[in-house]
Amino acid sequence: MPILQIQEATKVYEGKVTKRALNQLSFEVEKGEFIAIMGPSGSGKTTLLNMVSMIDTLTSGEIIFNGMKPQKLNSEELAFFRRRQLGFIFQDFNLLPTLTVEENIILPLTLDEQPIAVMEERLHHLSELLELTSILVKRPNEISGGQAQRTAIARALIHKPMLVLADEPTGNLDSNASREVLELLGKMNQDNNTTILMVTHDPIAASYCDRVIFIKDGEFFNEIYKDDRRQTFFQRILNVLSLLGGHVGDFSSIRLP
Ligand SMILES: Nc1ncnc2c1ncn2[C@@H]1O[C@H](COP(=O)(O)OP(=O)(O)O)[C@@H](O)[C@H]1O
Ligand SMILES: [Mg+2]
Repeated sequence: MPILQIQEATKVYEGKVTKRALNQLSFEVEKGEFIAIMGPSGSGKTTLLNMVSMIDTLTSGEIIFNGMKPQKLNSEELAFFRRRQLGFIFQDFNLLPTLTVEENIILPLTLDEQPIAVMEERLHHLSELLELTSILVKRPNEISGGQAQRTAIARALIHKPMLVLADEPTGNLDSNASREVLELLGKMNQDNNTTILMVTHDPIAASYCDRVIFIKDGEFFNEIYKDDRRQTFFQRILNVLSLLGGHVGDFSSIRLP
């Protein structure tokens, strides 16, 4: 069974002008997939993540997790579901400034009242893996952007969520830090079979994924699967982006690292 089923998802924002941000969008995600969502600015990518994370509700259509419909949960069950099953990574890291790196990372377990021994074991494991051990006592304003995003990744993974949602996670990072973060996400995906849904406008970032889903005007536009070589996958991503319109940027002559 797919871990996530999006069925004819439609979201209409009512206001002075009515905006159809998602229109009959359907796709499925298998457990362990690392998926990029691409599309021009305003095409509904963030809206889609907000619907998947149940921050907001669909106008029509359905989102099903592991065969279960979170829309049917009451608000307390929903809060529990989100805390247990989802991990979030944002462009601006969203770390709490008054907490240390360590406190930020274990926050999902603290909120879930997990035993200290469990917290320490997972904290140790992730901080080794993400090379955060030496900065655990620092606060977010004392660390680099790359370190902040690695901290956010640790926080998103510490409770072993079913699904990680990332909205432009490399949007504020330089190319070295971006590569590090993407390689780490790829490693988490490979080693732990973590399912990741990542919105990105960067074809290089997308080339780390198993599949890229393109949306346009809130509708499914195309999807492509990776092949043996990242360079050719990258070129195929560029080809679809050029069909999609919007800004593609000057990526066309890049050799991937
Ligand atoms: N809360 C909202 N109220 C009204 N319109 C919104 C709201 N959120 C997003 N939109 C509109 O929906 C469309 C899709 O937005 P969004 O999902 O943020 O796109 P993307 O993340 O792909 O740039 C845009 O036209 C945007 O202006
Ligand atoms: Mg967005």
